[in-house]
Parts: sequence; structure tokens; C-alpha cells
Amino acid sequence: MQALILAGGEGTRLRPLTIYTPKPVVPIVNRPFLYYQLELLKRAGIKEITLSLSYQPNKIADIFGDGDENGLKIHYAVEASPLGTAGAYKNAQEHLTQTAVVFNGDILTNINIADVIAHHREKNAAATIVLTPVENPSAYGLVETESDGRVRRFLEKPKPEEITCNTINAGIYVLEPHILNYIPANEKFSFEYQLFPALLANNEPFFAYTMSEYWLDIGTPQRYLQANDDLINGRIKSFDADRKPLNSNGSPGESEPVKIDARSAIDPTCSIKPGAEITNSVLGANCVVEERAKIENCVLLSGARIGKAAEIRNSIIGKSAIIGRNSKVDGATLGDKSSLTDYTII
Ligand code: GDD
Ligand code: MG
Repeated sequence: MQALILAGGEGTRLRPLTIYTPKPVVPIVNRPFLYYQLELLKRAGIKEITLSLSYQPNKIADIFGDGDENGLKIHYAVEASPLGTAGAYKNAQEHLTQTAVVFNGDILTNINIADVIAHHREKNAAATIVLTPVENPSAYGLVETESDGRVRRFLEKPKPEEITCNTINAGIYVLEPHILNYIPANEKFSFEYQLFPALLANNEPFFAYTMSEYWLDIGTPQRYLQANDDLINGRIKSFDADRKPLNSNGSPGESEPVKIDARSAIDPTCSIKPGAEITNSVLGANCVVEERAKIENCVLLSGARIGKAAEIRNSIIGKSAIIGRNSKVDGATLGDKSSLTDYTII
């Protein structure tokens, strides 16, 4: 078994977080996002993994290297310009000689991949697509199935009047190597708009596997915040938040203690000043939280500085952003190096 992770999209809907950091490595609770996908594949015994990249590929390759450190063998297939989801799969053909698990590179899940592979084999499928139920399928690929689990219809980004069921494409596939023959080389090609309809038209054994585990596409700021919140609150079974004890700040006997609740995950290199309160939040490396600042339901990326008595809620604060003292920020997504003057209210 081999795997391919499609990680070449520009992450436009997750801007401004993806301007300097490609979506596959934006940190979720202080680990680069792809860590969670690589870990899932490893747990299913899949160690040969190709990362399909296009946008800022070096920033991703610098982090994961050849995978040796993590007991993996990582290959890279880089597109000069984006070839679309299926074009990216075709572009990785030289590394895909066996049955392959293909993952959209922005799905946070704890699905048991071994179960999906077993189902694929049981059905003698040429292609298996994982489905997950969602409340509103309009932002996803809608998938209708027959009673035996065969895929009947695939409809990407359905209009409201086209929604006939609540099961959508979870962005996880198992594909036999001959599926590559449906895709032209070096051309833009889409799984969703072209390949899947072609498999149906050609009567390929194309089956669905409906998952019941945790699933989230992290591709918008709201869902990115949700992913961090779900992980620190233990809603993604089998993944723990990376919590290390904070290096000691200040000296004992200092007037006001800092208050940090048990859910928050704070990188040990942060500096948290007396009287600060941190609740249900994630702080990356080298953040500084000044005296009496309050942070609640937030993600602070590395190097963010929160001024004295500022109150930050329900927000994502980009790398090395500076929030002036006494500011009040609620529901904001601030890009890297943003700077808010003292007493700002947003
Ligand atoms: N290498 C490469 N090249 N990767 C790409 C390209 C490309 O040209 N285009 C997109 N990708 C990667 C993205 O980085 C992302 O990880 C994945 O393919 C899916 O692209 P998105 O842009 O995030 O698509 P989406 O979220 O609108 O829809 C897709 O995912 C849904 C589940 O979250 C579709 O597959 C839907 O059918 C599905 O329901
Ligand atoms: Mg997506």
C-alpha cells in the first residue's frame, strides 16, 4: 500500500493564515497540520507516502524531509503550476505502483484507514470514496449511493435545489493503479468534476464507505479555530493535544498569579506575565502575554505579543502580530505581523 496527500492548493479561503504558510503546515495545536495525516497513515501501516505540492513546496519539504525521522518514506511530486486534484494524482504516477490511499491535504480526521482498505478489498472495488454526513453539503461534493454501497452520482458543490442527501465526499479515496489511465498527463484534471463522472460512465466498481469518526475540513478560519478547539477539548479521539509544561515565568511570590485552564495548550517557550488569564486557547512558540491580558477561545501563532490588559476572544492571531495594550478583539483573524495600536476595538 502507498499513499498520496494532495497538498498543493493555495488555501485561498484560509487567508490570511496561508499567505506565508501553506495550508498543509499551518499548525493545529502547535503541530504542522500534515502531522495528523501522516500519523493516521502510519497507524494503518502505510509508510510510503507521496506529498503532491504546488504552492510554496519548499516550506513543506523543509519540515518533513524524507520522512526517515518518523519512520516514513516520503516522496515529493511538485507541479510547476497547479494541475487540479486528479492532475496532481497523475503527476505522482511514478510513485504510485500499488493500491493507493489518496487524501485531501486539509482533512482533520481520526478515521481508521485499515477499515476503509478492508472494505475496498471486500467489495473488489476499483475505487472507494469515503463519505461523511454534514448538515449542509453545498460546500462539498455530494455523493448518492445505491443500497449495495455503489456510488450512483457525484455532484461537486451542489446548488440548494440539487441537494438530495447529506453524505459528502470526505476527501479520502482508495484507488487501484489502473484508475490513472483515465487521466491525461500534464493537463489540468479534476477528481470531482471529471474523473468520478468518468468512472461512473464506464461502470467501474466505484464504492462508498461511510465513516462515523471525527471529520473536519480545516479550510476556513472558522473551521481552523474549530479544529484547534476540538483537539484541545478531546473531541478527536486518539489524538492528544501537544501539552508541555510552561517554562517558569516570573519569580514565586509575585503579586498576581497567571491563570491558565487545563484545556489550553501553550508552547513552553511562551512568556506569560502576572495576572494574565488564558482560557481554552492555543499559544505557539515564543508568544508574549503581558500583565492582566485575557485570552479566551483563541489560537495565537508563534511570536504573537498581546499587550497589557488586552482582551482577545474567539480569534486567530497571526505569527509575530502585535496587539496594543487595552485592546479588545473578538472574532478576528489577523495575518502575520499585524499590528494593532493601544486601545483598538475590533
Ligand atoms: N497538488 C495539488 N494540485 N493539490 C491540489 C490542487 C492542485 O492543483 N488543487 C487542490 N489541491 C488540494 C488542496 O490542497 C486540498 O488539500 C485538496 O486538494 C482539496 O482541495 P480544496 O480546494 O480544499 O477543495 P474543497 O475543500 O473545496 O473540496 C474538496 O474537498 C471536500 C472535502 O473537504 C472536494 O474533494 C469535495 O468533493 C470534498 O467534499
Ligand atoms: Mg478543502
